[in-house]
Amino acid sequence: MEKYRIQGGNRLHGEVEISGAKNAAVAIIPAALMVEGVCRIENLPQISDTDTLLLILESLGARVRMINPSTVEIDATHATWSGADYDRMRKIRASYYFVGSMLGRFGVARTTMPGGCNFGVRPIDQHVKGMNALGAEVEVSDYIDARAPGRRLRGSSVYLDKVSVGATMNIMIAAVLAEGRTVIENAAREPHIVDLANFLNSMGADVRGAGTDTIKVRGVERLHGGTYAIIPDQIEAGTYMAATAACGGEVLIRNVIPKHLDCISAKLREMEVIVEEYPESVLVRSTGRLRRANVKTQPYPGFPTDMQPQIGVALAIADGTSVITEGVWDNRYRYINELRKMGAQVQVDGRVAVVEGVKTLTGAGVAACDLRAGAAMVIAGLCAQGVTMVEDIHFIERGYQDLVGKLQNLGADIRIVDEPDEPVRRTAAAG
Ligand code: EPU
Repeated sequence: MEKYRIQGGNRLHGEVEISGAKNAAVAIIPAALMVEGVCRIENLPQISDTDTLLLILESLGARVRMINPSTVEIDATHATWSGADYDRMRKIRASYYFVGSMLGRFGVARTTMPGGCNFGVRPIDQHVKGMNALGAEVEVSDYIDARAPGRRLRGSSVYLDKVSVGATMNIMIAAVLAEGRTVIENAAREPHIVDLANFLNSMGADVRGAGTDTIKVRGVERLHGGTYAIIPDQIEAGTYMAATAACGGEVLIRNVIPKHLDCISAKLREMEVIVEEYPESVLVRSTGRLRRANVKTQPYPGFPTDMQPQIGVALAIADGTSVITEGVWDNRYRYINELRKMGAQVQVDGRVAVVEGVKTLTGAGVAACDLRAGAAMVIAGLCAQGVTMVEDIHFIERGYQDLVGKLQNLGADIRIVDEPDEPVRRTAAAG
C-alpha cells in the first residue's frame, strides 16, 4: 500500500503554482455533456476525480481527447443518457451533476447515488427539490432516475432551504436548456459557482447573477462548442498557505485570485502570519510561533469548510486556546483523532473543537480520513518532529495535483513509499 513518508521539521521556501479548481472542474465536466460541438477545457486539474468524470463521460458516448495534461477536448454531440459507468459514478460525489446535465439535454437521467468523502449525512433533497420545480419526476433508490414530461424541463423559481453548492450548480446546469426562465434563490456564492456560470455562458447559455444569492437562467435551445479556462483552486492555494504558516518559511503562491483567498489571508494574519497580495499571487511568510484564533466555517464568503482541517493543524501548534466551529458539515472532525496521535490537544463537542496549542507535534502513523483531512495530516507531518507515515493517500490524490512534487520543490522531505507496513490503528469518529 502506498503511503507518504514525511520527515518533519523543514521550513518551506520557494514558489508553488496552483492548479485549476477541483470543485469547478467536477461540475464543468458533467455540464459538458450538454454541449453539441467541441468544448475545450483548459487549466484542468490533474487529479483522480477529474479522470473519473472524464471516463464517465466517455461511457456515455462523448469523445474525450487530452490535448496536454491540463487541456481536454470533449465532444458530446453523439452522447446519450443511459449505460453510464455506474461503478465509477458510485465512487464520486460530483456524479450528481450528471442528473442536471442529462435532464437538461435529454429530458431523462439515470445516475447512481453519489459517493465521496464521508462527513456525516450528505442529503440531496435540495437537488431533488430543484429538479421537481423544473417539472421532472425524480425517484431515488440506489439510483437516481429522473424524467421530464415531453422530454424538456420547464423554467421555474426555486428557493433553496439550505445554501448548497451542489444543488445550486445542479439546478443551474439543468435550467440552461429548460424552456423559459429559472430563478434560484438562496443560492450558494462560491467562486466555482461563478466559474460554472461563466463556462455555461461561453458555450451559449444565459446565466446571470452567479456569485450573488439570486441566479437567473434563461433557457436556450442548445449549447455550442467553445474554449474555457477553469479558475485556480482556492482550497489548494489555502492548503499551501496553511502549510507555510505551520512550518515557517516564505512561499510565493502563484496562479491564484487573491480575492478568493481573502478570508483565509485574514485568518492567517490574525495568527501573526504575513500575507502579501499581488495581482495573481500571494506571498506567505511565517517566522515565529503562531497566535491562537477562532474559526467558524460558513458558506462563501465565510471561512471555507474545506480549509477547516488544514487551519486546525496550524492552530494545534499555535500559542493559546482556539475554538473551531464547523458551520457546514455534521462530522468533519474525524482527523482530530489522527492529530491526537501526534500530540495535539483537542476536545470535540458536536460541531465545536477546542484546541489547546502545543509547542510541537510528534511524527506518527496516521490515516487520511478524507481529502482535506488527508491534506491536514500532511501539514501536521511537515511541521512535526520525526517521521510521519500517512496512509489512505488515494483520498488526497482525488483533489490535489502532485502534492508531493509541489511540496518537495518547497524543500519538504516527503515521498511516496510502497511498504507492507502494519496498518495504521483506526479510531472511532470524533464528535
Ligand atoms: N445539504 C442538504 N441538502 C442538499 C444538499 C446539501 O441539506 O440537498 C446540506 C449538507 O448536508 C451540508 C450543506 O447543505 O450541511 C452544504 O452542502 P453542499 O451541498 O454545499 O455540499 P456539496 O455540494 O455536497 C461541495 C463540495 C465540498 C464542500 C461543500 C461545501 C463538491 C464535489 N463538493 O459539496 O467539497 O465541502 O460543497 O462547500 O463540490 C472537498 O472539496 O473536500 C469537499 C468536500
